[in-house]
Amino acid sequence: MNSTVEPRLGAGADAKTGARVHHELSYLTGFGNHFSSEALAGALPQHNSPQRCPYGLYAEQLSGTAFTAPRSLNRHSWLYRIRPAVTHGRFQPLEQRFISGDFSGVSAPPNQMRWDPMPIPDQPTDFIDGLVTLGGNGDAHAQSGCAIHVYAANRSMTQRAFYSADGELLLVPQHGRLLITTELGRLAVEPQEIAVIPRGLRFRVELGEQAARGYVCENFGAAFRLPDLGPIGSNGLACERDFRTAVAWYEDRDQPHQLVAKFMGRLWSANMDHSPFDVVAWRGNLAPYKYDLRRFNTIGSISYDHPDPSIFLVLQSVSDTPGVDAIDFVIFPPRWLAMEHTFRPPWFHRNVASEFMGLIEGSYDAKAEGFLPGGASLHNCMSGHGPDAATFDTASAADTTHPERISGTMAFMFETRCVIRPTRFALESALLQSDYLECWHGLAKHFNPRQR
Ligand SMILES: [Fe+2]
Repeated sequence: MNSTVEPRLGAGADAKTGARVHHELSYLTGFGNHFSSEALAGALPQHNSPQRCPYGLYAEQLSGTAFTAPRSLNRHSWLYRIRPAVTHGRFQPLEQRFISGDFSGVSAPPNQMRWDPMPIPDQPTDFIDGLVTLGGNGDAHAQSGCAIHVYAANRSMTQRAFYSADGELLLVPQHGRLLITTELGRLAVEPQEIAVIPRGLRFRVELGEQAARGYVCENFGAAFRLPDLGPIGSNGLACERDFRTAVAWYEDRDQPHQLVAKFMGRLWSANMDHSPFDVVAWRGNLAPYKYDLRRFNTIGSISYDHPDPSIFLVLQSVSDTPGVDAIDFVIFPPRWLAMEHTFRPPWFHRNVASEFMGLIEGSYDAKAEGFLPGGASLHNCMSGHGPDAATFDTASAADTTHPERISGTMAFMFETRCVIRPTRFALESALLQSDYLECWHGLAKHFNPRQR
């Protein structure tokens, strides 16, 4: 039997478009909660592994942390599904030459780098085909570091599912809505929202429009969490209530599917004779979620100077060193600048951490031009960077007695403890802007020891 169980949809919903699901999908709210969800009443058993599960389902545990991880860090879920995850054919290597998992083969230059947006492909390309690795650090084997990919696609994945055993996936759509169907349910995500898919969870990506483009941070290390707030107090930055987790959804489809795994930096493919999205009920705290970046409670100076950009931290992947994150996901959203007698754009600086930036919408307040939505920049460890010459000149002469609103923008940063090594593609691509350094060439000498 083939059947699909729909979530509650509103009257008049169009089953053929992504638009209906965007507004009609149900979610569970909260960050890292222990959730319970069933798409069929009574599908969740009383305990984890009963001798016989309701409706003839199989019980299967998905562990995202060591069994013995402290309770506060332990992430796992129990899945009740039509067939266990093991029911597939043998994995064979799958060629996808733009995905890279070895970041040691290319020597990383300390140059500041910037790329134009990935073009939308001409040929039929789904999310898997359209993934391109721009850089990364650490390695999946050591469960440390990350890979940074971009995607550009023009068709939905059909009868195809993907998972990464190498890391948790943080998706940052820049263009085009996505319907992400996972084993634990579905997320409708649009630009200015993000989605986080746990390591190992199978999913497919369908496009809400003709084309989609965005960024992916593949986190090899500790799962993303919300940062502590310190003196900010109990409120501020990203709030738990704004994180939305999928509810159970399944399809009972006995049709051929291709299961694509990212494992140790490369892709593998196995055949299945059914849809892997057959989890009828689940419970636990390892689950896919989304977050609307426009919900971020942005905090800044109301006197003078800037706080460090850690004030814009949405999610962090902690390292083994207290206070030093392996990955910070940081955003630069619309906000008021009220600091008096202050150079208001981001300052010139050098950073022990390495900074990969992307732009979702609008322009970024440190660059007058050249940093485009869908593009990217990379400022690695201790490489100087900051506002371009035009921005410096404008901001140095600006009136700072009145607040100024930065609007219509959303930039973000994957900031990592270790140097982000660009891939050969990133270094040799025509998208790399050869003239990037020139944006600082106009920074004139103003020094005059006789005039203060
Ligand atoms: Fe920076």
